[in-house]
Amino acid sequence: MTHTKTILSGIQPSGQLHIGNYFGAMRQHIAMQQSGDAFYFIANYHSLTSVRDADVLRQNTLDVVLDYLALGLDPAQCTLYLQSDLPQTTELAWILGTVTPVSSMEKGVSYKDKIANGLSPNIGLFTYPILQAADILIVHADLVPVGEDQKQNIEIARDLSQRLNHYYGDGLLRQPEESILKSVAVVPGTDGRKMSKSYGNTIPIFARGKELKKRVMSIETDSTPLESPKDPKTCNVFALIRLFAAEEKREEIAAKYREGGYGYGHAKKELLGMMTEYFAPAAERRDELAKDLDYVRDILREGAKKAQERAESVMEPVRSATGLIRTSMQNTNQSLL
Ligand code: ADP
Ligand code: TRP
Repeated sequence: MTHTKTILSGIQPSGQLHIGNYFGAMRQHIAMQQSGDAFYFIANYHSLTSVRDADVLRQNTLDVVLDYLALGLDPAQCTLYLQSDLPQTTELAWILGTVTPVSSMEKGVSYKDKIANGLSPNIGLFTYPILQAADILIVHADLVPVGEDQKQNIEIARDLSQRLNHYYGDGLLRQPEESILKSVAVVPGTDGRKMSKSYGNTIPIFARGKELKKRVMSIETDSTPLESPKDPKTCNVFALIRLFAAEEKREEIAAKYREGGYGYGHAKKELLGMMTEYFAPAAERRDELAKDLDYVRDILREGAKKAQERAESVMEPVRSATGLIRTSMQNTNQSLL
């Protein structure tokens, strides 16, 4: 019998999700839900490394759930849950920490990036890859679809899985593979740098009306006069148009750029229209879901139940192999208690 692959990925609820997150990660997560046993979770323990306001964290968590469901994550095809509903994750993270060399965290590039971007250097941020490894290993994930920036963290998860198995027994944890999402290059933000919450240059997926218009109009462009020919390849507006336009439309706009007489303002209006149309059905679904939070809660409860079952089946042998006694549980394989 061929084994159905377990797919796992997570997203942090540390701000409004933007079109970089959508094209770089979420769209592929949604597409992959049919390709295996898919587990997707909202990484709220991780967000504690950067969000210090409980109301904000709760609101962001709900927003990410609504965004994902509205965009097409189907609870009948995948398991959607909150990381905080799976405390086995932090339990495993502790155990993994005891086999993690300090030097492996010291080499962490995302820690350095985050510090360079002004986050406070707390231990949670430093050991973030251990918690991420636990997320992956606690469900016996085979495939972890993530952006290029997460590659090192998946390698750390593989390494920690091997280390734990080496000390305590083969097969306790599985070896995950990363599946780097290459379908889209980095989506640029309004200032031309990588679109990122930490740069304040995002266009949120569900921004609407005035807010959306303000963000799109703020995209930085060069000062080529309206009548002059322009190069679509170097334009931030065109880089975003590419994501939404079908090939024919894309070529048509590129030709207008090259001809001249087509200003960046025109291109921005075109982008605004495309984006609104592209996300309109999802925006409608999101409004409906937001009116039925009982339904959303049920989905998360169901997801938590399924994820917990899996996590317990992975965790129990780990507790036993490491010698951790839980008096509330029937312990096999031990004569002391
Ligand atoms: P942010 O940089 O806004 O904090 P995250 O680091 O939380 O975003 O990213 C969540 C996911 O979205 C990751 O898998 C990441 O690869 C993807 N992602 C984020 N920003 C972009 C972008 N500008 N282009 C492509 N993918 C992105
Ligand atoms: N670190 C990921 C990010 O910032 C989020 C994440 C947490 C994750 N745990 C994970 C992704 C486990 C994949 C698997 O985007």
